[in-house]
Amino acid sequence: MIRSALMNVMTTAAVKAGRGLKRDLGEIENLQVSVKGPGDFVSAADKRAEQVLFDELNKARPGYGFLMEESGVVEGADKTHRWIIDPLDGTTNFLHGLPVFAISIALEREGQLIAGLVYNPATDDMFVAEKGQGAWHNNRRLRVAERRDFADALVACGIPPLARAHLHPRFKQELGAVIAKCGNIRRMGAASLDMAMVAAGQLDCYWERGLSAWDVAAGAILVKEAGGYVSDADGQDKILETGSICVGNEAMHRALLTIIKNA
Ligand code: IPD
Ligand code: CA
Ligand code: CA
Repeated sequence: MIRSALMNVMTTAAVKAGRGLKRDLGEIENLQVSVKGPGDFVSAADKRAEQVLFDELNKARPGYGFLMEESGVVEGADKTHRWIIDPLDGTTNFLHGLPVFAISIALEREGQLIAGLVYNPATDDMFVAEKGQGAWHNNRRLRVAERRDFADALVACGIPPLARAHLHPRFKQELGAVIAKCGNIRRMGAASLDMAMVAAGQLDCYWERGLSAWDVAAGAILVKEAGGYVSDADGQDKILETGSICVGNEAMHRALLTIIKNA
């Protein structure tokens, strides 16, 4: 476990916001059967969770800046620190009552990611990492998988939704190339958890395009601190700018990058 003051601040905020999301997930089961469906309710739940995170983190670390999915940028007096937050990653799963979603919080210091947290309140899975302190799942230290043969790899991906259909042709090409060489594929539906699962060695590697900084910031430090490799989907070190991602152990990361490059 990481017992730093910073991690205490992050986990306290996540657990508090998570309590609300877990309660809301219960409510969604009732709304599922209504004609209107749970859309508006989910968007309110998302915003409520973000507000709790903002209030808690701002109280504990006044002056830090914020980049949040719902409210955007909030400049802080302290220009060296910035929180990057997705209050509800895996919205589609949440909307359907699937308990595969997470709160994702990362902290940057002078442009470097120094801490990350991915928390699924439905299952109480808490993944945390701090620079130089390793990556942890509850009380267990994480290591990426040792597997090296891509033919054995369990690979995660993201599928662009209908609203981003312009990404489909490229995705189909990449998917075709990957399934021709890997063991099998998973599409979990929450980028932050995909990365946490790579850090935990449950998935061998993961790639996706069309993401945003808040989808990948916390997961990136989890994977790095678990001994894994992180780049964008073109092999560059610009994940927060390009919103594409590729992670895995050294061998899997290299193999996956090569396959999608040649797709
Ligand atoms: C989404 C999830 C999903 C990924 C999407 C993301 P959201 O985040 O991480 O797995 O495929 O592209 O936008 O919208 O649920 O916060
Ligand atoms: Ca997200
Ligand atoms: Ca979100």
